[in-house]
Amino acid sequence: MSATETWTVLDLLRWTTAHFGKQGIETARLDAECLLAHALETKRLSLYLEFDKPVEEPERARFRELVKRRGGQRVPVAHLTGRKEFWSLPFKVTPDVLTPRPDTETLVQAALGCLPGLASEPEARLLDIGTGSGAIALALLSERPRLRAVATDRSAAALALAGQNAEALGLADRIDLREGSLFEPLAGERFDLVVSNPPYLADGEAAGLEPELAFEPKEALFAGPEGTELLQALVAGAPLHLEPGGWLLLELAPAQAPVVAGWMRAAGFENVRSHDDLARRPRVVSGRFARTEGSA
Ligand SMILES: C[S@@+](CC[C@H](N)C(=O)[O-])C[C@H]1O[C@@H](n2cnc3c(N)ncnc32)[C@H](O)[C@@H]1O
Repeated sequence: MSATETWTVLDLLRWTTAHFGKQGIETARLDAECLLAHALETKRLSLYLEFDKPVEEPERARFRELVKRRGGQRVPVAHLTGRKEFWSLPFKVTPDVLTPRPDTETLVQAALGCLPGLASEPEARLLDIGTGSGAIALALLSERPRLRAVATDRSAAALALAGQNAEALGLADRIDLREGSLFEPLAGERFDLVVSNPPYLADGEAAGLEPELAFEPKEALFAGPEGTELLQALVAGAPLHLEPGGWLLLELAPAQAPVVAGWMRAAGFENVRSHDDLARRPRVVSGRFARTEGSA
């Protein structure tokens, strides 16, 4: 990609796709399109209308720098552009939060199935623990106008970003962001739906992970020696914060689904089942708590 030649949009996409492919990046073409659109300050799909357009040197220099960081250092695309689409909504992301994953849309879909349909929608309360960018809570609020959410995180920086995303999406008036660990900031409160995509990797799994995960905050990924520590705490604590008949939905690693489902049944949850992600692996476990458990 020398600075003196003429390069069109399509030339740049072809060259970069091949370059990323050689470096083992599975989403080579998509990444090339996202980064070129970012460098040209346009939408990805607009590139398709401009394949033959020559790209001038200042934009090319900006693109070269992005390609270098993506290919050489494996910096995730979302960290280079500062944006990630989730549930077809634009989210701002920074190194302070986990970049929302397509897998997590399985949780949003399953949660919508637990809420009454739009036509008959009563007011309902949602709790999202470990909200990060706010992805899950804000996606659900965008789908249900009478839903209100409390979203928590241990990270103040993550909550600040979730607040910015809520403002940008016009949903800030229906979300209450609170700092603290697990159920700590929720004494005495009950919800119709409790959802969480907690850290669920075991500390020992760090070595075998894809290089991009090195750029994500460790507190968003690792739960402890077993990986299931936070999932177990969420199952144990949720009954005190659910309305009778309320639902708990947890994202997890596929191999954790049977054990977490077992904990939920033992804790008194009914209708316990798992939900598959797009790769047909169990990604979410849900259950309904019909009783009222103690007082929080
Ligand atoms: C896997 S990320 C999920 C982020 C977001 N919900 C999503 O699905 O994209 C887990 C989040 O949980 C937060 N977290 C980790 N331990 C926590 C704890 N004990 N209590 C509350 N939040 C915690 C992390 O800061 C991080 O934002």
